[in-house]
Amino acid sequence: TEKEIEIYYNTVLDIVSLAGKVVNAGFSAAKRIETKASAADLVTEFDQRVEEILIKHLQEKFPTHKFIGEESSSAGVQTVFGDDPTWIIDPIDGTTNFVHGFPFVAISIALAINKQVVIGVIYNPVLDLLYTAIHGKGAYRNGRPIKSSGQTDLALSQVAGEYGSSREPEVLTAKCQNLRVIIEKVHSIRAIGSAAMNLCLVAEGSCDAYFEYGIHIWDYAAGDLIAREAGAYTCDPSGGPLNLLHRCILCTATKKLAEQISPLLTHVNFPDD
Ligand code: IPD
Repeated sequence: TEKEIEIYYNTVLDIVSLAGKVVNAGFSAAKRIETKASAADLVTEFDQRVEEILIKHLQEKFPTHKFIGEESSSAGVQTVFGDDPTWIIDPIDGTTNFVHGFPFVAISIALAINKQVVIGVIYNPVLDLLYTAIHGKGAYRNGRPIKSSGQTDLALSQVAGEYGSSREPEVLTAKCQNLRVIIEKVHSIRAIGSAAMNLCLVAEGSCDAYFEYGIHIWDYAAGDLIAREAGAYTCDPSGGPLNLLHRCILCTATKKLAEQISPLLTHVNFPDD
């Protein structure tokens, strides 16, 4: 019910603010850096600690809820995306930025019920930017409503795209090819290193589109809702409906822009989450 969602929302905001303090402390501290799937797929003790804090507090408040978390998943916990209320958590989206002191790092949390995301919260504690959305109630940055740009012309667009952390030659070739094809047709491409923040940039109109292959459900579940609530359009980059387990997204200010971008892309398949 609406009342319950409001309770979930207020609770998660309190917990995110607490976790943001830990991310901020870690941002300027020395940290232990380890690698995961590739030499460029990084993790620090702060990623793990922040995820533990978020899950512990949410579990205390909502003992029947389920969790999907980036670091739990790296530690071998199976991703189960069912109908139960499920919190989808990326404790630090932009871990490479976090390691390098580049200020685009964000805690990303979504709550899905019956596989539909109803709450999205993305908090960048370094820049103190809090993006929030509740399904049907619009998107906000630090409490003020945000709107996507409304751009319909690819030639006038600023597009966010990423290289990602895979170093598989075929994957890199396809990704570079996509950026190569797009750059010729747009004002500019930006790669800030956080899927969650990229979706917020489209939501607030600073970018007109963002696409990426190889990301995970925790990178885009919250940002997808925030972008759509801000008036943006999201889909599978191949043109079909967005699937949160398919590891890719195309997010555009308008459907017209998606129709111009999708046919230009070489589609890269990753195994589902
Ligand atoms: C990463 C960021 C980045 C994307 C990578 C992701 P993480 O998330 O979202 O933008 O290009 O593919 O892995 O690992 O820092 O949470």
